[in-house]
Amino acid sequence: MARFEYAPAPESRAVVSLRSSYGLFIDGAFVEPVDGGSFNTISPATEEVLAEVALAGAGDVERAVAAARRAQREVWAPMPGAERGKYLFRVARIIQERARELAVLESLDNGKPIRESRDVDVPLAAAHFFYYAGWADKLDYAGFGPAPRPLGVAGQIIPWNFPLLMAAWKLAPALATGSTCVLKPAETTPLSALLLAEIFQQAELPPGVVNILTGDGATGAALVARRDLDKVAFTGSTEVGKAIQRELAGTRTRLSLELGGKAANIVFEDAPLSQAIEGIVNGIFFNQGHVCCAGSRLLVQESVAEGVLDALKERLGTLRLGDPLDKNTDIGAINSGRQLDKIVELAASGEREGAERWSPSCAIPERGYWFPPTIFTGVAPSQRIAREEIFGPVLSVLTFRTPDEAVQKANNTTYGLSAGVWTEKGSRILWMADRLRAGVVWANTFNRFDPTSPFGGYRESGFGREGGRHGLEEYLDA
Ligand code: NAI
Ligand code: MG
Repeated sequence: MARFEYAPAPESRAVVSLRSSYGLFIDGAFVEPVDGGSFNTISPATEEVLAEVALAGAGDVERAVAAARRAQREVWAPMPGAERGKYLFRVARIIQERARELAVLESLDNGKPIRESRDVDVPLAAAHFFYYAGWADKLDYAGFGPAPRPLGVAGQIIPWNFPLLMAAWKLAPALATGSTCVLKPAETTPLSALLLAEIFQQAELPPGVVNILTGDGATGAALVARRDLDKVAFTGSTEVGKAIQRELAGTRTRLSLELGGKAANIVFEDAPLSQAIEGIVNGIFFNQGHVCCAGSRLLVQESVAEGVLDALKERLGTLRLGDPLDKNTDIGAINSGRQLDKIVELAASGEREGAERWSPSCAIPERGYWFPPTIFTGVAPSQRIAREEIFGPVLSVLTFRTPDEAVQKANNTTYGLSAGVWTEKGSRILWMADRLRAGVVWANTFNRFDPTSPFGGYRESGFGREGGRHGLEEYLDA
C-alpha cells in the first residue's frame, strides 16, 4: 500500500494566552482561594507546566454554593425562560467565535489531537449550549407538566477525558431549567473550564449562576459532603461514583452518575467491512481510548475474524502518534502518568493471562506520556482485559459464531453504557438492539454524539441521562 510522508503541520499556540496562575471563579469573578492551596497543570505530551491553578477547599465550596443559591433564588429562576435562553445562545456563539483558542488550549492541557478537539469537542460543546438554549422558553411543553420548577443548585463533578464538552453537558441543561451550578473540573485538565468562565463573563451571565472550583478529589468530596445541594451530577470512575452514592444515600440530594464502560463492538460477517474497520478504529482509538463508551471489546464473527484482523492491523499501521497540536496526528498523549501506569499494568496482565499482544511499529516521543495502539487477540472472557475498563488505546478481540452468542458475550459485563452493531440487515440491528443491555446502541457507526440524543448507562455504568429532553428532567423539580 502506498504511504505518504507527512510534513509537520502544527497548529499555532499563539492563539492561546495562558496566565501564569488562575484563581477560582466564584460569583462572577476570579478570586483567590480562602484555603490558599494551588497545583500545577501540565501538558501530558511534553510534561511542561502550563499554569498554576487554585485548589479549592471547604471554605471555597461554601462560598461558591452560597453564590449559586443566591443567584438561583434572586436572579436566574425568576428570569423568564426566553431571557435565560438569550444568555445560553450568547455563550454558544462565543464558544464558536473562540473555537480555535478553546481547541488549542484543550489539546495542550489534555493531550488529545487538535483534529479531535477542533472537530468534535468544541463544536459539540457549542451545540449543547445552542440546543438547551432552545428549550429554555419551552419547558412548559417538554412533557413535564405545565410550569415545571427548576431543581435549584447543582454540584457537578467532571473528568479529564472531554473537559470542555463534559462541562457543556452538565451546565447547559441545568442553566436552561433555571438551576444554577458549582462545577468542579478534573485536576489534570482545568484550563478549558476556566476559559469558559471568561466566556461567561464576556456573555455577561449574571454572577453566581455558574461557579467553577478547580481542585482535586478532595475538592469534589467537599462539594458532595455539603447537605444543601439539590443535585449532584458526577462523571468519572465507578469507584468514586459508588462512594458518592453511599455518601448521598438517604439525603434529599438528587444524583446522576455517568461512570465507566466496557462496550462491545460487534461485527457480523455481512457487515460492510472497510466501513467496520473505520468504526472499530474510531471506537477504541478516538481520544486515546479515554472514552467511557469506547468500543473496547471487539466481538467479530468467526467466519470473518481473520480478514478483519488483517485489515485492522494494516489500518493501525497508518495511524500517526505524536504532537497533539499537529493537524495530522491521530493518537495523542495519555492524559497523565497515573493513567499511563494503569494502562501499562492492565496490558501486562493481558500478556500474563495468555492473550496475544500486537502493536504497529511506531516511534514514541521521549518526553510525555504515550501508549501505542494495541490489540489483544485470543482473549478469554474471564481475563482482566476483557472485563476491566482500561481507558486507553487497547482493544480486546473476542469471536462469536451466532447472534445469540454475540448477545451473551456482549452482555457479559458489569457495565452497560454502549454497544455497536455492524451488519447489513436492518432486522438484525433491531433484534440485537432489543437484547443488548446498554444505554446506547450504535448501528454501523460508533462514538457518534448529538445534543438531542439522551446518553447514559445501566448497572455499573451509572444512571440518569444527559442530552435531549431527558437531560432537562435531571434539573427540574418535576
Ligand atoms: P476519578 O473518578 O477519580 O475522577 C473524576 C472526577 O472526580 C475528577 O474531577 C476528580 O477530581 C473527582 N473526584 C475524585 N475523587 C473524588 C471524590 N472522592 N469525591 C468527589 N469527586 C472526586 O477518575 P480518575 O482517577 O481520573 O480515573 C480513574 C479511572 O476512572 C479511569 O482509568 C477510567 O477507567 C475511569 N474514568 C471514567 C470516566 C468516564 O468518562 N466515565 C472519566 C474518567 C475516568
Ligand atoms: Mg493538564
